[in-house]
Amino acid sequence: MSNTRGLNRRTFLRSAGMTALAGAVGTGASAAEEAATARSAEAADGMFDFDTPYDRVGTDCIKWDSQIEKFGGENIEVGMGIADMDFRAAPCITKALEDRCRHENWGYMKKPTAYIDAIVAWNKKRYGVDIDPDAVTLAAGVHPALIAALNTFSPPGSKVLLTTPTYNGFYSDLFWSKTVAADSPMKLVNGRYAIDFEDLESRIDHDTHTLILCNPQNPTGNCWSAEDLTRLGELCLERRVIVLSDEIHCDFVMKGQTFTPFSSLPNKDIVNNSLTFKASSKTFSLAAMKSAWFYSTNPDLLERVRANHRADINTLGVVANQAALTDGEAWLDQLLPYIDANHTLVESYMKEKMPLVSYTKAQGTYLAWLDVSALVDKIGAKETAMRETNAQDSSLSPVTAEHVVEKWFVEHAKVQLNAGHSYGTGGEGHMRMNLGTSRKSIQKALDNMAAALQRV
Ligand SMILES: Cc1ncc(COP(=O)(O)O)c(C=O)c1O
Repeated sequence: MSNTRGLNRRTFLRSAGMTALAGAVGTGASAAEEAATARSAEAADGMFDFDTPYDRVGTDCIKWDSQIEKFGGENIEVGMGIADMDFRAAPCITKALEDRCRHENWGYMKKPTAYIDAIVAWNKKRYGVDIDPDAVTLAAGVHPALIAALNTFSPPGSKVLLTTPTYNGFYSDLFWSKTVAADSPMKLVNGRYAIDFEDLESRIDHDTHTLILCNPQNPTGNCWSAEDLTRLGELCLERRVIVLSDEIHCDFVMKGQTFTPFSSLPNKDIVNNSLTFKASSKTFSLAAMKSAWFYSTNPDLLERVRANHRADINTLGVVANQAALTDGEAWLDQLLPYIDANHTLVESYMKEKMPLVSYTKAQGTYLAWLDVSALVDKIGAKETAMRETNAQDSSLSPVTAEHVVEKWFVEHAKVQLNAGHSYGTGGEGHMRMNLGTSRKSIQKALDNMAAALQRV
């Protein structure tokens, strides 16, 4: 795939069978022309363009290039997997990066105070939370920060509580900290996930020291209410379980919904039993810029994690994130209704045209959690998974019905979705679909999927 590096993408697109979408994406312009149009991402009327599909193929991105590598370019028309977005970055980010690149020295940086101030100001303005700037600890991502916290509070072999289905990356954090997942499956109440508090409590024992909370929740899209968070916080406080609140998706809240930061709860004892992990990398799609942060109102907890955490920062990550938080609000405020409408479209389209798939609109995130259990039955995915597992080397992880569905959608609809089993207990019979993309790509994916489903 080395010929796909850099911006020499046109040839690659052709050979990868991507010309249909690419036609909608670009005009065959040179890299220089493409760079020039980047400057006009914000039109004179102040409106940003989320509608024109932005071509990412050939940039070594996981969302497209890894799927093309895995399944073949001719089988991928829409990549809807890993949680980043397909949009052109907010122009203020590109501008800040260009400005910084003009200063051609990349030596070590000290703690960037203006970035910390931007983080504090964003959280105050958007969520009313007062964060002590001295408590903000920069990290190279939420993962390394969470791993440091797990290494601090949860000895190897001890249990970490998760309400599942939950973000699959948490299982890798548990792997790196040599801890063990205690999955507490959530209940479905009127089509919406709810924490099963009795079950959660029953899983706490002398060897359970942390809970990873995901709010808004990946993959179900739940925004947890203050009541839920308080009940969870009380339980954890009483049973001496520290809450690690991952709020990386907090800026994506659909109309009429509310995001409640854990640290904004009125009971300060509950808040002091927690650390919060955040980033603007989901908000502005800066995932590979590797910048995140964590904080706590409890100096003791914070210092203990800091002692286990090596905080490296990188120049471009700081520049991009700081620009986003300082000047990117207008971009985000236009993006949110766009994502909201993507969710609405997917929900209504599936209801109308895909009887084998069901979806209840998420409250937050740009992720759609699809129930595909009827499709699993219809295509005999469990039986296929069993057959394939028996036929393969016994050292490999078993093939699941969701793997079979993932492959089925790729082969029949050229759409890649993430397999639900990886999100823990309760992920069976589900797929995760990333809606952080242009309406055109969403429409293409839906039409392809509906046509494929009609043929079964
Ligand atoms: C809930 C959640 N936490 C953390 C991450 C990854 O964070 P980072 O890239 O900052 O390590 C993701 C990425 O999808 C996520 O969804």
